[in-house]
Amino acid sequence: MNTIWSDYFQNIGTLYLSRTLRFSDVYKEKYQSAFCIDDTNRNLKMLEVGCGPGALTQSLARWYPNADIIGVDRDTSFIDFAAQQAPQIQFVEADATALPFADNTFDVTISNTVQEHIEPAKFFGEQLRVLKPGGICLVLSMRRGVSIDADCIAEENSFEQEIWDRVNRYSQEALQKYAVGQYAMNESELPLAMEKYGFRQISTEYLTINLTPDNPGTSKEQAYAMINAHRQTAIDAVNSIPHTAPGIVSEEELIQMRERVNQKYDKRIELYDKGSKQWDTSMSLTMVLRGMK
Ligand SMILES: C[S@@+](CC[C@H](N)C(=O)[O-])C[C@H]1O[C@@H](n2cnc3c(N)ncnc32)[C@H](O)[C@@H]1O
Repeated sequence: MNTIWSDYFQNIGTLYLSRTLRFSDVYKEKYQSAFCIDDTNRNLKMLEVGCGPGALTQSLARWYPNADIIGVDRDTSFIDFAAQQAPQIQFVEADATALPFADNTFDVTISNTVQEHIEPAKFFGEQLRVLKPGGICLVLSMRRGVSIDADCIAEENSFEQEIWDRVNRYSQEALQKYAVGQYAMNESELPLAMEKYGFRQISTEYLTINLTPDNPGTSKEQAYAMINAHRQTAIDAVNSIPHTAPGIVSEEELIQMRERVNQKYDKRIELYDKGSKQWDTSMSLTMVLRGMK
């Protein structure tokens, strides 16, 4: 049982809610145009590597209804959750560096924010191996973005600051210990790496996703989902403290931290309901790297 990622770095709620927004059907055409996959006449076999709790996998299943999709991740909690949410999709607990599939199995492999955590020869090499000749590898990665909190959320009191000061050193140690982000590459290194590890006809595309609750085009339901996705990320950050820094923060302090998070986000919802614009935003730039076997 491996739950390192979900315990230490990003919990189920953090990934599931944020990715459900980023891979919403609102952006279906944008993604489909960048992926450039024709599934009209074929029973495509698609593999998502490092699928986490499966939000992108579920979107892919809606966007490519003729495809046969499998999601793999090595975190047991993510795979259990993903399988529960979407029992019609096959989710497999597996390591991306030793995929449990035969050579030449898939038409498409895809991943989102996974490449930077896995040694490139293994990451690209395994996908090259399991792809059919002519198969497509899609590597999605978050690039620079803009993230602005509403004032009611950004403001940290001395109690919160003191807790995060206490925990910070341990969080940094965990990131290093588990090689999180260790293989990150910039926008020119990534295509070069893909070519080096055997892919051809490489191309890049960049997509912006603008999540701004106060935009007139954002429905009330979407605005609540955006605010509550951030709330969940903040709660999960508190919940990971006993894993990253065991014994450093008391149970009573953790309860107070969660209360503080909820007060801030309740306030943000209240301001939204009153029509008091905050213009907090989360704008992500996603790179879509595409190569052929
Ligand atoms: C930043 S998260 C992204 C998850 C998911 N793609 C998403 O966007 O929500 C990175 C994911 O890669 C997975 N991962 C990291 N190294 C892995 C490996 N060697 N094999 C399989 N999964 C791995 C982690 O468990 C985690 O779910």
